[in-house]
Amino acid sequence: MIEKITSSQQAMDLEAKYGAHNYHPLPVVLAKGKGAKVWDVEGKEYYDFLSAYSAVNQGHCHPKIIKAMTDQAERLTLSSRAFYNDALGSWEKYVTEYFGYDKVLPMNSGAEADETGLKLARRWGVVCKGIPNDEVMIVCCEGNFHGRTITIITMSNDPESYANYGPMTPGFIRIPYNDPDALEKVLAEHGKKVAGFLLEPIQGEAGVYVPDEGYLKKCYDICKKYNVLFMADEVQCGIARTGKMLACDHEGVRPDILILGKALGGGVVPVSAVLADDDIMLNIKPGEHGSTFGGNPVAAQVSMAALEVIKEENLMEKADYLGKIFRDEMSKFKSPMIEKVRGKGLLNAIIIKPTNGKEAWDVCLKMRDLGVLAKPTHQHIIRFAPPLVITEEELRDAISRIQEAIKSFE
Ligand SMILES: Cc1ncc(COP(=O)(O)O)c(C=O)c1O
Repeated sequence: MIEKITSSQQAMDLEAKYGAHNYHPLPVVLAKGKGAKVWDVEGKEYYDFLSAYSAVNQGHCHPKIIKAMTDQAERLTLSSRAFYNDALGSWEKYVTEYFGYDKVLPMNSGAEADETGLKLARRWGVVCKGIPNDEVMIVCCEGNFHGRTITIITMSNDPESYANYGPMTPGFIRIPYNDPDALEKVLAEHGKKVAGFLLEPIQGEAGVYVPDEGYLKKCYDICKKYNVLFMADEVQCGIARTGKMLACDHEGVRPDILILGKALGGGVVPVSAVLADDDIMLNIKPGEHGSTFGGNPVAAQVSMAALEVIKEENLMEKADYLGKIFRDEMSKFKSPMIEKVRGKGLLNAIIIKPTNGKEAWDVCLKMRDLGVLAKPTHQHIIRFAPPLVITEEELRDAISRIQEAIKSFE
């Protein structure tokens, strides 16, 4: 029997009883969303300051994106790649022109796109750089978050991600983040066997770590020196979130392999992608990689609409402008509970100093009561990432609620 949900408690009870316990959500049950706002089952209104981890940059249920989905869904939803469909080619042209690459490879989740990027780099390493197949290596960073597959958690140094999942995947070297000298050192030693260097231009899950200015460019140059591919995971920080189309754009760096997800599907359907030029991409031949749902026509139409919205509504400029207001207002607000405010564009974090036995989780619960939804990442950091369509008035209203929540613990 399908149970009809009439209260938040009922929905939470069902999840606790029948769902795997692999998440610990904030106790709020969402039933509706529009723009920067969401509503729970009882009809209480909130500002969404997580945006599904930056997947809803264009705002909840954007009419243009929903229309693209429903129009296509009435016609054809899935062809698989065994056959062509009449939407994928248009998407491939649009996306490659949009980001400036020769080719794109569609997948669904961010983790799949990262896996694809890793396979592509390894393949290039073997075929083009001449690294023996069993010896090819990828360099990654401490504090990384690239998803949840076995290979990806191999790269993680967070025990919550990797512990007790059995043997890991060989072929990775981890170096400190925001430390170009560490990259130079590891490539000087192992460069001949390294195919790629994978990083998040801003580390999101780790707690919105913005590297020093010049870090990305220095790493890019070091990669070129050792003939290593510079691979940017822009799944969370890309697509206007930080005030530029890509976080790499802040330093004028063009990744050899660009990995996108989340907002590429406008918060509507899962769409991820890897972009690269022909000399890299064409090393994967027919039958050597793929996904049943990757490149489906609904995803293609939704994704084109989602990317159009970013430009039509000037969401890069908005993220830049509103992000400055957020950081200014939160920095001016003096509280013993705020240790630090940091971020770029509308990807920001506040480090909470536990006060009177209350920590970031308690602040998030209080904010929820006051109508703002956010969630701690790690124990003491709260990420603030509203949909980029939020208005200045809404942002200022939300800021005063956030400040009120923090003040209540002093
Ligand atoms: C930078 C980054 N890469 C990859 C992923 C994984 O994406 P998904 O959850 O869609 O697999 C995430 C998810 O938060 C992410 O932040």
